[in-house]
Amino acid sequence: MIAIVLGTRPEIIKMSPVIRACEARGEDFFILHTGQHYSYEMDRVFFEELQIRKPEYNLDVGSGTHAMQTGAILAGVEKVLHETRPEIVLVQGDTNTVLAGALAASKSYVRSGGKQIQVGHVEAGLRSFDRRMPEEINRVLADHISDYLFAPTKTARRHLLNEGISKEKIFITGNTIVDAVRQNLVLAKSKVDTVRHLGLGKDAYFLVTLHRQENADNKARLSGIISALTTIRKKYDLPVIFPVHPRTEKMIRTFGIDTSDIRTIPPLGFLEFLQLESEARLALTDSGGVQEESCILSVPCVTIRDSTERPETVKVGANIVAGIEPDRIIAAAASMLDAKRSWKNPFGDGHAGERICEILNSC
Ligand code: UD1
Ligand code: UDP
Repeated sequence: MIAIVLGTRPEIIKMSPVIRACEARGEDFFILHTGQHYSYEMDRVFFEELQIRKPEYNLDVGSGTHAMQTGAILAGVEKVLHETRPEIVLVQGDTNTVLAGALAASKSYVRSGGKQIQVGHVEAGLRSFDRRMPEEINRVLADHISDYLFAPTKTARRHLLNEGISKEKIFITGNTIVDAVRQNLVLAKSKVDTVRHLGLGKDAYFLVTLHRQENADNKARLSGIISALTTIRKKYDLPVIFPVHPRTEKMIRTFGIDTSDIRTIPPLGFLEFLQLESEARLALTDSGGVQEESCILSVPCVTIRDSTERPETVKVGANIVAGIEPDRIIAAAASMLDAKRSWKNPFGDGHAGERICEILNSC
């Protein structure tokens, strides 16, 4: 039996192709939701739109400090694993849910009566090489306690080998986000019309997302980024559409930052967001998933961070890592607006979910 552990927006989206593949193969599996994300628009909307069955377990851990959240997930996952005794726990990405889920499973030996639960890490081997990011700590630790490392690309595999992880454990599968985009883009385009609904036109707006702790929780950084976006809006006379993550929404209010020149909207469902993203002139973001998706959708991207764990997007010419200084963000936007959109998607063929299920079955 497989336990699929997930807890946040990107995990639900990127695990959905694995869940679909498990269902198609008639696998014995259950979904354990940690409840790290819980607001309707960060959680349930994705289960509804992606037609994922209701999780069999929900720990409802909610928000808190890193230690509180990670600790609560660790204890909750351990309890469920002890009751259910799956053979494999699958986690995806780099959140606190991933670290705690993988850690609980990897220490399950004694509690599960001498039988070790195996850990599979989907999207293994990504590295920003910036240990100040909580996500970098989570992904490094999760990789080192995993038994199956599903690396999306050769670059990710190389990082794992460089850290001494045995090559027998590593499988290059592609990134499940390609599956998710391909499985949902047609539906997104036919079912929803977010672009027109917002009064926008194709290639006639900028799309922004921001939520990294290091950007959202720092007043100087967040105000600087918003001022750069305001300048870009005026310079090109095009709207800047910003579906705001709840962390960022809270910090914009706390810091009293003026966002009146950009168009802030609540977070969108995946189908709505995918459609908005696919028709944007340019994406400006600090999101991991948005860097990948814009690359897949042939939309140029400016990454508002000091580093990226998605260097494949930069290498193919789809993305510039601008840093967080306003002048550099503005210059990077100018440069990416001139980019030829002819790069190739470096993240695989859209069959990562099926491949992951097949590997788990054959081992
Ligand atoms: C988390 C992940 C991050 C991932 C992101 C995806 C960690 C360390 N961070 O960041 O890697 O990129 O999810 O979106 O695991 N909140 C709500 N409703 C929700 C969830 C959060 O209002 O459903 C608000 C709360 O005020 C909360 C804050 O957002 O304190 C931050 O939530 P949290 O889960 O701690 O981190 P994210 O920023 O969402
Ligand atoms: N996303 C969404 N609605 C939004 C913003 C983003 O559905 O309003 C999706 C987006 O398509 C991508 C994922 O959320 O698949 C990225 O999640 P996020 O940026 O929160 O986390 P990260 O990828 O940085 O871990």
